[in-house]
Amino acid sequence: MIMLRNAEPRDFYFVTSVINDWWGGRQMRDMLPKLFFVHFRETSFIAEVDGEIVGFLNGFFSQTFSEEAYIHFVGVHPDYRKAGVARKLYEKFFEVTRARGRHIVRCVTSPVNKTSIAFHLRMGFEIEPGDDVVDGISAHSNYDGKGESRVLFVKYL
Ligand SMILES: CC(C)(COP(=O)(O)OP(=O)(O)OC[C@H]1O[C@@H](n2cnc3c(N)ncnc32)[C@H](O)[C@@H]1OP(=O)(O)O)[C@@H](O)C(=O)NCCC(=O)NCCS
Repeated sequence: MIMLRNAEPRDFYFVTSVINDWWGGRQMRDMLPKLFFVHFRETSFIAEVDGEIVGFLNGFFSQTFSEEAYIHFVGVHPDYRKAGVARKLYEKFFEVTRARGRHIVRCVTSPVNKTSIAFHLRMGFEIEPGDDVVDGISAHSNYDGKGESRVLFVKYL
């Protein structure tokens, strides 16, 4: 049974020890600073099965856009994929977002991350049209710096 709870500062150490492996060897560790596990606990969640961490989500409520929330990272243990763990984490995030009177959720992914693109489309996100097309997917060129294209997702709750 999958159990969800809010993230705690100590979860940072476990999550960052597995994150590169869970991303198939991509160097993701530096993109997830501890501050998410300290200052964004209300919108960051841990999924556990029998006390073992099998997934996490780090998000926040936008300071600039009062109707919006943003999901920065989601990751699921490779042995527990396609079992609804990420869906559960997202639904929890949508629930707390709605409860705060917010109704727009955004997230950003890299065009190379086909799994993430497929997952977000299944979760009802729309792709925001950009100025480039990568493998048939609309992307925003240089979004995260020179040569760093990104796919922008939005979901209206
Ligand atoms: C993307 C990721 C978080 C999905 O986690 P998951 O727990 O396997 O996803 P779920 O089982 O909750 O799937 C939710 C929906 O997405 C779909 N989905 C998940 N992975 C998919 C894939 N590889 N291809 C196609 N659809 C996929 C599921 O079929 C499901 O749809 P349904 O409920 O309508 O049947 C996971 O693959 C992962 O951790 N990948 C590496 C990290 C990463 O890329 N994170 C995202 C960028 S921050």
